[in-house]
Amino acid sequence: MGAEVVVEGLTKSFGRQTIWRDVTLTLPPGEVSVMLGPSGTGKSVFLKSMIGLLKPDRGKCVVNGVDVVSCSESRLYETRKLFGVLFQDGALFGSMNLYDNVAFPLREHTRKSETEIKRIVLEKMDMVGLAGAEKKLPGEISGGMRKRAGLARALVLDPEIILCDEPDSGLDPVRTAYISQLLIDLNAQVDATILIVTHNINLARTVPDNLGMLYRRELVMFGPREVLLTSDEPAVQQFLNGSRFGPIGMSEEKDVATLAAEQELADSGHHDGSAEELTGVVPQLQPTPGLPERMGVRRRKDRVMSILHSLPPAAQESIIESLTPEDQQRYGVRPHMATATAAATVPAGHRPSPAPRPPQAGERFQGDLSGVAEIPQSPWRPPHQQGPGGGA
Ligand SMILES: Nc1ncnc2c1ncn2[C@@H]1O[C@H](COP(=O)(O)OP(=O)(O)O)[C@@H](O)[C@H]1O
Ligand SMILES: [Mg+2]
Repeated sequence: MGAEVVVEGLTKSFGRQTIWRDVTLTLPPGEVSVMLGPSGTGKSVFLKSMIGLLKPDRGKCVVNGVDVVSCSESRLYETRKLFGVLFQDGALFGSMNLYDNVAFPLREHTRKSETEIKRIVLEKMDMVGLAGAEKKLPGEISGGMRKRAGLARALVLDPEIILCDEPDSGLDPVRTAYISQLLIDLNAQVDATILIVTHNINLARTVPDNLGMLYRRELVMFGPREVLLTSDEPAVQQFLNGSRFGPIGMSEEKDVATLAAEQELADSGHHDGSAEELTGVVPQLQPTPGLPERMGVRRRKDRVMSILHSLPPAAQESIIESLTPEDQQRYGVRPHMATATAAATVPAGHRPSPAPRPPQAGERFQGDLSGVAEIPQSPWRPPHQQGPGGGA
């Protein structure tokens, strides 16, 4: 099983420019998480900070008990080996063929024999669908293949955590769908913790167990995918719909006057050129038939059900609906429970969650809220927010 990553109060600036502040989230072990964010919000900077390539100003990023922000160089060197990173451009050596590119970390960081290296390289290249392309140079292959090669190279040291920087960038929608499937398949096979940063909405809707968004130099939210996908937060909605109307502007957030003018346009029926409105939670991608079941999905179910009462009603509803009738019974939940409770007990404008249900005998409730971040300027707050990783 992959390692847990606990990020706490992470803040990064370059000179006087704050990129993001106070980012707190936990990547649950072996689950797939996606961090969405408009271009330039610091997604790549976030990944680089997690592996100690950039030094944040404040905060922690703890992996296996080691804080990569404050540890010694030698500790950092060791901890970095737990990570496999797919950089945005694939970061392949142009003069080396794919085989040598993929073999590079093994030759650099291990004392394995060339026979052993060959076995691993061919295995990983096969895993990403590149069997037979070993002799090709990066310049001779398509962008999609370069991403796959970068992914194979990220896999050779058997990482516990895989970070992918925009695995979809520069790919057409079909190739993006293939890479999405590949990431889910890899997770099923190696059970590593995966974090993908992207601005691709389709990928964000279909791939992850957990979803977050960076915006206005803050983590808008991070938690089970259903929370963000059912959110009525304007910035989240605008982003998910790829719309021009909303708080996110061409290069910065918009002012009140611009927002009012847009609202007028929208009210008068003006279309802003976005794709048709997508709403709600779509089914999550499953591993290709024949591959093992994702263990992360199983663990996530228990984890999410243990924090269910702390989530907004719409997210609760969506999670309950996704359960089989057997699971609904096992967890003691039923459809429309969350929204009915919210409507019955709550004055308009407030949306607290139903009262927590005590764990039933035989259930493994862990009471861990670390995966849920609050939404700035939102009426909704998690009722019992606690520090990440601080098991209840
Ligand atoms: N090494 C650096 N020095 C100074 N500024 C940087 C550096 N790296 C990134 N930035 C700035 O940080 C911001 C976020 O960049 P980045 O993480 O690449 O955004 P994203 O990946 O979300 O598109 C940008 O304004 C960029 O100019
Ligand atoms: Mg980037």
